[in-house]
Amino acid sequence: MLTNEQRNEQLARLTKEAELGGGQERINKQHEQGKYTARERINKLLDPESFVEFDKFVTHKCNAFGMDKTKYLGDGVTTGIGKINGQQVAIFSQDFTCWGGALGASHAKKICKVMDFALNNRIPIIGLNDSGGARIQEGVDALAGYAEIFYRNVQASGVIPQISLIMGPCAGGAVYSPAMTDFIFMVDKTSYMFVTGPEVIKTVTHEEVTKDALGGAHTHNEKSGVAHFRTEDEDDCFERVRELFAFIPSCNMIKHATRLTTDSPIRANNKLKTFIPDNSRKPYDMKELVMEVVDDQHFMEVQPDFAKNIITGFASIGGIKVGIVANQPAFLAGCLDIDSAVKAARFVRFCDAFNIPIITLVDVPGFLPGTVQEYGGIIRHGAKLLYAYSEATVPLITLITRKAYGGAYDVMASKHIRADINLAYPTAEIAVMGADGAVNIIYRNDMANKAKHVDYYENEFANPYRAAELGYIDEIIQPEQTRQRLYQYLKALENKKVKTPERKHGNIPL
Ligand code: HXC
Repeated sequence: MLTNEQRNEQLARLTKEAELGGGQERINKQHEQGKYTARERINKLLDPESFVEFDKFVTHKCNAFGMDKTKYLGDGVTTGIGKINGQQVAIFSQDFTCWGGALGASHAKKICKVMDFALNNRIPIIGLNDSGGARIQEGVDALAGYAEIFYRNVQASGVIPQISLIMGPCAGGAVYSPAMTDFIFMVDKTSYMFVTGPEVIKTVTHEEVTKDALGGAHTHNEKSGVAHFRTEDEDDCFERVRELFAFIPSCNMIKHATRLTTDSPIRANNKLKTFIPDNSRKPYDMKELVMEVVDDQHFMEVQPDFAKNIITGFASIGGIKVGIVANQPAFLAGCLDIDSAVKAARFVRFCDAFNIPIITLVDVPGFLPGTVQEYGGIIRHGAKLLYAYSEATVPLITLITRKAYGGAYDVMASKHIRADINLAYPTAEIAVMGADGAVNIIYRNDMANKAKHVDYYENEFANPYRAAELGYIDEIIQPEQTRQRLYQYLKALENKKVKTPERKHGNIPL
């Protein structure tokens, strides 16, 4: 029979053993690769001393392939709760030092338990993924474990924010849990995601590709759009996650989220007085406009490296947290294409699910023409953005800075799809198409006088006054009033309530 002191010592010894994971040698190997261990990551990401661990002594129940001889306390994943910037979060972190972080039944159960905790208590869940995937020795039990996690990702979607950090390999079906979360962070050079690895690809398609080129941070941030943030190293990654938490709420029940700022909401945007170029074919950087308008020049851009013709991200105005969607005339003239439509649609849906008002800045010449876009399904993908805006019930404020042409005018949070407030600069051009294209069609038999017709069309349509006459634009504002007006309207829309028809769910074009 142990004395109480011996019992306390036993707990201390087991705790130490659990915290050593797969052992010092494997910890050293992890460090040599520029990676922290599962627990080090948690401690660096969360507020100091805030982490409380669940299920430290869980082990697997597998006897196949000699597994009964290797058990690690905690079964290769550390789970629990803690805080970020004082905000409660739930977290799991896979431990690569135990079977390469591979997921077995007990490991999965621990993740499911902390996910259930997060959902039941309406706090965000953060997953740190560093794993060789399904634990081969546990067979279908490992696959079942993954599926239980996938199911929970879907139940939690739109209720609590779900954040994935890819800190090492993430292969096979294992990529689908992160894919169903709201934001994916990847670390340059040490993290990668793919459904099938380079070896399988070589056998099946004879393509030769490295892990990094196939599924590294740059690939998923620039090419595929799977990831949302590319970070330099793990420390940078934790810093960026903490920054994101300054803008997102704990759950979908939070309304009117604010931040502290000393930036005056009525600060005049003098820089914007002459910001839009006189020549409407000349590009400008919409990000500069965003930075000028938001609090403290703090804009957290989401997917900055993907579909650069549209900008998405978080900021606050007069302390009110907002999501910003903006066409970027400095890239592809700001037109809408497949990637930009999907990028913005997903962002709009996140904001709508979590009660974050959306500010839309419009300078769009239309949809990108061409067979690549048509064959790729621009109709279906463009419809996603139209759908996302139309179903959104959060406050929607739209500002047309310059071009708003054709279908893209309708899509970019126009009055007609129920934006609350539609503003325009005097430089706005709201029409079915640009002057050149329009004249080529309606005056095709009088091309000799083309210049005269273009001039007439521009005077008639390349302005915001037609739309204002019809009440489609609520107010034409001077550019220096931008911040003040956005703030005034955000305040006025704080108690917005919309009744939507009863239904099981809509059918967004996928
Ligand atoms: C069991 C695994 C494992 C796995 C790695 N290990 N993956 N154990 N099941 N899936 C073990 C290794 O045996 C090794 O054990 C330790 O983890 C570290 O692995 P290394 O290979 O030494 O590390 P490294 O060279 O860094 O390579 C990491 C790796 C590689 C790229 C992840 O291990 C690998 O390719 N593993 C297999 C990946 C895979 O095919 N997984 C199944 C995908 S299918 P020791 O004892 O030597 O330290 C899948 C289905 C999901 O996941 C289904 C969801 C629907």
